Amino acid sequence: MTRRAVIRGVGHYLPERVVENAEFEKTLDTTDEWIKSRSGIERRHFAQDGDTTSSMATKAAEHALADAGLQISDIDAIVLATSTADLTFPSAATMVQHQLGMTHGFAFDIQAVCAGFIYALANANALVTSGQANRALVIGAETFSRIMDWSDRSTCVLFGDGAGALIIEAQEGNGTSADSGILATDLNSDGRYRELLYVDGGVSTGTTGYLRMQGNQVFRHAVAKLAATAHTSMERAGVTADEIDWIVPHQANIRIIQGTAKKMNLPMEKVIVTVQDHGNTSAASIPLALSVGKARGQIKPGDLLVTEAIGGGLAWGSVVMRW
Ligand code: UT7
Repeated sequence: MTRRAVIRGVGHYLPERVVENAEFEKTLDTTDEWIKSRSGIERRHFAQDGDTTSSMATKAAEHALADAGLQISDIDAIVLATSTADLTFPSAATMVQHQLGMTHGFAFDIQAVCAGFIYALANANALVTSGQANRALVIGAETFSRIMDWSDRSTCVLFGDGAGALIIEAQEGNGTSADSGILATDLNSDGRYRELLYVDGGVSTGTTGYLRMQGNQVFRHAVAKLAATAHTSMERAGVTADEIDWIVPHQANIRIIQGTAKKMNLPMEKVIVTVQDHGNTSAASIPLALSVGKARGQIKPGDLLVTEAIGGGLAWGSVVMRW
């Protein structure tokens, strides 16, 4: 028998304010056509005054608990991926823990930017399979609208806010690729590329700072690294591309999503795509896509999923799981 982390529930939250591409035409030298054709993005949600990373994460977690039919007392760990925690510290995860009324167990943040949810899920999987936790809430939540330079058309049109949450639970499996739950993970980073995507503020500057990105340089790395990490995870899981039901990619750019699927020899019919409605929500994008994919009736119990992401660091990785 093999201890596996199986998926018990999923949920998401998107702030109410929706901003269409055309809005940016009023203040920037840009067009709906440019944004749509270069990125696939049509609209995104932006946090309003009352929304914070932790408040959105809490709402996503509540939806995941309801989906799983569980209470917060059933959870013993919260792992939250974000690069936009409400404060420098304490962690957004402990704020969520408090907002959910959880006074037991433990909660912590993971910071791997757009790959954050992959890192959080891989680490939560390790906690569950090693017996340090039985049920974990794994959350990705971001308010990137608060680190946008609204005069920089090359970045501010690309990002959005939101949160998604997954609940994983320890169950016995047979140790084969037919098991439910997380079957394999792969994590990578390379700090030589840190200047391609970073925020120019933090404790060293005394400011929050703004996101800076050499988008076309990140793009150059994305397809090859994403296809390679997906291949590694699939090999570790003992599955082949023709067994995959869904690719659930990080939602940064439809051209990266299409290029990666092609390199993996999988058709776009097998890809969950939400980038048109959410923009790039960094660590929130994959759990949002999982939740929306389930709500649309695309992801069903027993489906084999490969999920992958790349972002600032550079940091990238993938997870293969059976839903
Ligand atoms: O999630 C974290 C990881 N991040 C990513 O995965 C993002 C990866 N990169 C991308 O998605 C794409 O590189 C972008 C969507 C950011 C840009 O697309 P691109 O095809 O790589 O365009 P580019 O950066 O090479 O820019 C092409 C042109 C430039 O003008 P010139 O130099 O050719 O005259 C830009 O100044 O497009 C211009 N441009 C814009 N034009 C209209 C840049 N932003 C805009 C804009 N509207 N908003």
